[in-house]
Amino acid sequence: MTPLLNDRYLRALLRQPVDQTPIWMMRQAGRYLPEYRAVRAQAGDFMALCRHAELACEVTLQPLRRYPLDAAILFSDILTIPDAMGLGLSFGSGEGPRFANPVRSARDVAALPVPDPEGELGYVMNAVRTIRRELKGQVPLIGFSGSPWTLATYMVEGGSSKTFTLIKQMLYREPALLHALLDKLTDSVILYLNAQVAAGAQALMLFDTWGGVLSTPAYQTFSLDYMARIVAGVTRHAEGRPVPITLFTKGGGQWLERMAATGCDGLGLDWTQSLGDARARVGQQVTLQGNMDPSVLYADPETITAEVARLLAEFGPGCGHVFNLGHGIHQDVDPERAGHFIAEVQRQSRAYHG
Ligand code: CP3
Repeated sequence: MTPLLNDRYLRALLRQPVDQTPIWMMRQAGRYLPEYRAVRAQAGDFMALCRHAELACEVTLQPLRRYPLDAAILFSDILTIPDAMGLGLSFGSGEGPRFANPVRSARDVAALPVPDPEGELGYVMNAVRTIRRELKGQVPLIGFSGSPWTLATYMVEGGSSKTFTLIKQMLYREPALLHALLDKLTDSVILYLNAQVAAGAQALMLFDTWGGVLSTPAYQTFSLDYMARIVAGVTRHAEGRPVPITLFTKGGGQWLERMAATGCDGLGLDWTQSLGDARARVGQQVTLQGNMDPSVLYADPETITAEVARLLAEFGPGCGHVFNLGHGIHQDVDPERAGHFIAEVQRQSRAYHG
């Protein structure tokens, strides 16, 4: 087995000392990179790129060639599970994801299969195996899934939504039906993440992009309880090492204590939350990931430098921090500004580690 040459990210998630704060960027492989756009054009559409193990591996590695990042993230999407359930995923140009067969009725939910991760989703596992081989132990590989709630929003709405009308109608009119859907998604996500670990993923992340649109009791019942089942159900140890899991609920700053109580290793924070407050609340229990506003990367280098300084000071000295953006990098960011950001985190953070 290839030894892992850089374990800063894994050490930070276990709240062990590191020499500098590890950093990776949400959506680090993507359209802001010209080399990504070239491979994407070669593949045809986005899902074709996800299904092609060598090309998915290539775009996963592109940001690591440009920048000294401390982790790689599998190039795929959270919507692979609903697609494998037969919903007919497509990405129309510039309009986001669309499902040809949205889930609206008890019959629709009952008909959904739990996908076999090495069957319909085998292309994802092939990508994981290819990336692990090509990484050659340079940095750990993060596997991921969407949270059941976030996947359900796309499946019921039929795509992206601003109002979440249909899924909220289901939540308040037919809660048992929504629970049946979330239950099936939870089983599917556990199988999917465990297969990613078996294929070589060394850490896991759950993206709950839309948990923040819920009331507190609805968040607990319809999102967090299912994420807790996933935390309890996934492989937490592989290749002689812990496999840490990070939960990210966008807009979930008010629920950090509840999220930490799931027994996860890390919490992803969006930029609206204070890193210092979050550390005081849950920093003894979990590692915090984040949380620079991705829009800071539109600024001049001096402003980026100052914002990195502010965030490092807010977290303060010691371990348990993974630097990241508070959400995905914007597609119109200048890659040089991203490079400056990463270099500044690494340069400035050394003073915070003994
Ligand atoms: O580098 C990485 O972070 C790994 C790859 C990754 C993608 N999507 C690639 C992608 C990851 C981790 C995701 C997660 C994802 N996908 C989330 C959760 C994280 C978040 O951003 O909140 C969500 C909500 C999705 C669903 C999704 N996929 C949407 C809404 C869209 C369209 C919006 C857009 O940016 O065009 C996608 C497509 C998508 N997923 C792209 C990429 C690089 C753009 C596709 C393209 O090249 O045209």
